[in-house]
Amino acid sequence: MKLLILFFSGTGNTQFIAEYIQAHLLSKDPTTKTEITLATLEGFDPQRILEYDGLVLGYPIFAGLPPVNVRKFLKLIPHTTDKCAFVFNTKGMAEGIANWYALNRLGKKGYRPLGFCSVIMPASDGISMMLTEESKTFQKYLTRNYDTIPRVDKFAQRITDAVVTFTETGSFATLSPRKPVKFLGFFTSAFLYLLYGLIGNSMTKKLHATAECNLCMRCVKECPQTNIFREGDDIKFHDQCIFCLRCVNICPQRAIQMGKLTVGKARWHGPKGDFRPLQYRLPQKTP
Ligand SMILES: Cc1cc2nc3c(=O)[nH]c(=O)nc-3n(C[C@H](O)[C@H](O)[C@H](O)COP(=O)(O)O)c2cc1C
Repeated sequence: MKLLILFFSGTGNTQFIAEYIQAHLLSKDPTTKTEITLATLEGFDPQRILEYDGLVLGYPIFAGLPPVNVRKFLKLIPHTTDKCAFVFNTKGMAEGIANWYALNRLGKKGYRPLGFCSVIMPASDGISMMLTEESKTFQKYLTRNYDTIPRVDKFAQRITDAVVTFTETGSFATLSPRKPVKFLGFFTSAFLYLLYGLIGNSMTKKLHATAECNLCMRCVKECPQTNIFREGDDIKFHDQCIFCLRCVNICPQRAIQMGKLTVGKARWHGPKGDFRPLQYRLPQKTP
């Protein structure tokens, strides 16, 4: 069986959970016949999804939904049959209908929705826009133990069970579909969507590089939207920002700011401090 763990991660939390799931699956795979691919959604050709029997899709929650690039991706993937899908998110607090939304989209594309998971992680929006490094909350984020996350273990076990079923029967048809209930998160999503809708546009327009910028180009290379470019000795921004805050957090000079809001605030590099956004970008297939 070929399983794809595909994720988008702005600041490292979702990548960390994707790696965690992969490690769990590898350690528990009783068939040892599963081929697991871990890939970032950035630069991933939606058609390639057909190469896999099962999909595990991960994303952070932005304004009560999966981020815009993930929602676009869900629209672009081809229709299929006989494949299964699991989804997971990382969030600061509330996911609204995000998992329902993603599984519903995948179901419409022919995937059998088999499970979902939601993991509370450090809030990337709060860190870069509200918390100083000395704050108690940020210090808690730094010292929290991320080695064992029982809810993700349970989720990964459900994926393992599906793998076993597929290996034994060649199909997922005997497994019952599982989807979250929509109405539970509807109002949360609507509220968050309106809130971020109100502030998001004006905030992303305030992105700029300060005099500390040494033109290392990391932001240009690592922006998931290729929204950042160099013009002469300046770093500039197009209008395709999805508010993932990666540029603000990865800049080694702390030179990227969003207005004054991010000045003097903490920066996040994933739970282990080692987030490298391009690490799981699959090489493009040569035609
Ligand atoms: C623009 C923005 C909006 C966010 N909206 C929500 C939200 O609606 N609910 C929530 O629980 N967390 C929200 N968060 C927090 C992130 O979902 C959370 O920190 C996530 O783990 C970040 O994952 P990443 O490091 O993989 O990007 C938001 C973060 C950002 C940057």
